[in-house]
Amino acid sequence: MNCISRRRFLSGTVVAGASLAARFPWLANSAAAQESAGPARVVIDPDRCISTVDRNIFGSFIEHLGRSVYGGIYEPGSKFADSNGFRTDVLKEIKGIGVPIIRYPGGNFVSGYNWLDGVGPKKDRPRVLDRAWDTIETNQFGINEYVTWCHAVDAQPLIGTNFGTGTPETTLALLEYCNVDKGTKWSDLRRAHGYEKPHAIKYWCLGNEMDGPWQIGHIPATQYGIKARDAARQMREMDPSVKLVACGSSGPFMPTYLEWDQQTLEQCYDEVDAISLHRYFGNAEETGGDTTRYLAMNLDMDRQIHEIMAVCDMVGGRMRSNKTLWLSFDEWNVWYRARSGTAVDGQRQVAPHLLEEIYNLEDALLVGGLLNTLIRRSDRVRVACLAQLVNVIAPIMTNENGLFRQTIYYPYAWALEHARGKALELAVTSPAYEVPVAGRPAARSHENMSVPYLDVAGTIDVENKTASLFVLNRDLEKARDLELVWHETTPTRVNTCQVLTGSDLKAENGFDAPDRVVPKPLDAPQVGSRMTLEVPAKSYVLLSLGLA
Ligand code: AHR
Repeated sequence: MNCISRRRFLSGTVVAGASLAARFPWLANSAAAQESAGPARVVIDPDRCISTVDRNIFGSFIEHLGRSVYGGIYEPGSKFADSNGFRTDVLKEIKGIGVPIIRYPGGNFVSGYNWLDGVGPKKDRPRVLDRAWDTIETNQFGINEYVTWCHAVDAQPLIGTNFGTGTPETTLALLEYCNVDKGTKWSDLRRAHGYEKPHAIKYWCLGNEMDGPWQIGHIPATQYGIKARDAARQMREMDPSVKLVACGSSGPFMPTYLEWDQQTLEQCYDEVDAISLHRYFGNAEETGGDTTRYLAMNLDMDRQIHEIMAVCDMVGGRMRSNKTLWLSFDEWNVWYRARSGTAVDGQRQVAPHLLEEIYNLEDALLVGGLLNTLIRRSDRVRVACLAQLVNVIAPIMTNENGLFRQTIYYPYAWALEHARGKALELAVTSPAYEVPVAGRPAARSHENMSVPYLDVAGTIDVENKTASLFVLNRDLEKARDLELVWHETTPTRVNTCQVLTGSDLKAENGFDAPDRVVPKPLDAPQVGSRMTLEVPAKSYVLLSLGLA
């Protein structure tokens, strides 16, 4: 039986969301599902919050890959270029949405990257073969250009270091180059390159996907953990302000999933602050092309977060450590079409068209759901990066004449603008349907899980007296009413009410039709202590309210 025929729609099932389901939605479906009919309801109490939302959970990623750097953010020959060679159209867009933190320079690229090739006079920088993507790297853009660009877009850098061909020594040299003021070999080299002030880079990823056999310099977990501990200990000595992220599993489908994380942390738990998670979703093998399963995949992200947290806490507990690690979900997105053949093979070209995934409406709806999960898990996830930002599996696409916004741009921009303050601990009840259980390829799954039609996340910004709700309606056929029940406060006005939806789930934007999928105003609910929001079928809705 395939997953579609196996699925039973339970229109009368309600998933209770107060405690269990709100915090472990992927679990909730078996543990807390209740048989009862009725409309969806969310109870909002400003005193019940999960955590302060760290803005860095809405970060992104720029890799030396395809046209992400060259032709994306940097293109000296372009009519849009400023005196640094930065594309001003792209810069304005990124600064405009306020991306808080941006990971760089990779990704797989970093595991073969010599950062020294990318500093100093541009005319002396070597052209090298990047073996991760079989691309020619000109090195015209390096760490200094990157930091300058980050300042220009008001983002904080998150630097990945080379744990493939690199050593703790090369990582320490880079840290010294970036963060030590003066009077040492590498800090003086930075000054000689024209950067007098240290870059003061706080966030560092110790390698990338080192669990993956595809990774340059892939080694077993214990060896990686020892290397990470050695580098981390020295890095902290050099600059105690750094925040260090150990490299976790590249996803739940790795045979070493969780074991890698455990073995790594057993070596370096005391020296690092966080562990990384990566995940790319798709509506093909894992779902059998079933959009109702696809739109439930943010619950798979929830589950992954929960499992990695459990491993962190198990290792910490066994070590009798007083420290709690946070999570850096530093690569996440939809990516399943541009994943093979010429889409991933640079063929020794400079800035080839790689990983240029074109997103449709259903991808944007899932990205909305994934952002909901990150908001709900902001107690533990402190950094997360939409991978990536420009041209490569990205919300922004460029050509020589300009740029367009992909469908996934919109939920991301909403989160950046409206998810502020604290994440609300919402008590959500919603009718539900069933799909094959999370975290397993559809073809092999024999268990079902219950998925609420409405997925709701919310934030409250007490200082600015606003609350925002983000609602995904996974029902492809029916609009659903969501009753909002306010405790201890009553909204006084609607700041904005918008919806991302459409009749064609496969509709895409492009240079020819940049506005095919864009948010539209939605009829705002009447404000009061009980309100009813009508959430259109297959939609993602933003409701921002002013509070008394
Ligand atoms: O983001 C694209 C690639 O996906 C990254 O280089 C790698 O880390 C991951 O596998």
